[in-house]
Amino acid sequence: MEFPITRMRRLRKTPQIRNILSETKLNPEDFIYPMYVKEGLADGHAEHISTMPGQYRYSINDAVEKARELEDIGLSSIMIFGLPLEKDEKGSQAYNKDGIVQQAVRRMKEETDLIVMTDVCMCQYTSHGHCGMVKDDKILNDESLNYISKIALSHAEAGADVVAPSDMMDGRVGAIRKTLDLNGYYDTIIMAYSAKYASSFYAPFREAASSAPGFGDRKTYQMDPSNLLEALREVELDIGEGADIVMVKPAMPYLDVLKAVKDEFKMPTAAYQVSGEYSMLKAGIDAGYITEDSIYESLLSIKRAGADLIITYFAPEFLEGKI
Ligand code: PBG
Repeated sequence: MEFPITRMRRLRKTPQIRNILSETKLNPEDFIYPMYVKEGLADGHAEHISTMPGQYRYSINDAVEKARELEDIGLSSIMIFGLPLEKDEKGSQAYNKDGIVQQAVRRMKEETDLIVMTDVCMCQYTSHGHCGMVKDDKILNDESLNYISKIALSHAEAGADVVAPSDMMDGRVGAIRKTLDLNGYYDTIIMAYSAKYASSFYAPFREAASSAPGFGDRKTYQMDPSNLLEALREVELDIGEGADIVMVKPAMPYLDVLKAVKDEFKMPTAAYQVSGEYSMLKAGIDAGYITEDSIYESLLSIKRAGADLIITYFAPEFLEGKI
């Protein structure tokens, strides 16, 4: 009988050997934790998000307290989403200097050393729920850029380290870069949601943020899930317009896109494991169909595919050593 010359199992023999040879490792600094801050919410009354078990909408004070706890156990970055009390046609609360995000950013910068990132978009703030200006049921592109730039500037003025436009209007990275430069914010980092797909995996977020579109869908601005080459064009454009970090979103269903983007552009690259990915894993674990190990595996796969940064609702679980 012939013996196999190469035995792959030799290197899998013990946990110690497997550990020293593992090709991908997750570190606390890989993670960005998304936090929902809600205007008008009383302290101590964080609202549980029914579609995202274990995630909450916080008052500013409670959000700062939560962020500090996570910072103490190794968190480096947060991404703030604001939930305003009032919505209107042009989403004017989104660029209010004293709006919910602007206040939250100021407090986070005063009371933590976290890297503070903000989602720059209009959909939580507009009465129609779209990510841009609307006329005759059409989402206008160029008219929206002015508003999106104003929102980004107001976040930078409040002290945001990173602004992250998620609207998918054409030219928004360039418009934001120009506005920031003209106002002296040369050093504000732009993390562009470059390849953002029109995904059904955002459903729990839209419930959490009451941001579902009032009519139609987002398919005229977010990407068709069947396209990969288009994602490369989107990323190339955003780099040309001044993005410092590019992003692929969602993560798990788009790992091929993530890998292609990283290989092609060698840019700092983020991936967003979105609300639906989180809730799907949570539901499977809660039902007993899969175990908690699936969380670690999902994060590992995102990093292995090329993500330098992972925006994920599982950041606390990782930092607390639960996964
Ligand atoms: C805003 C925005 C969305 C998400 C991040 N920014 C929702 C959307 O585009 O409908 C989704 C985040 C998540 O699902 O966790 N445009």
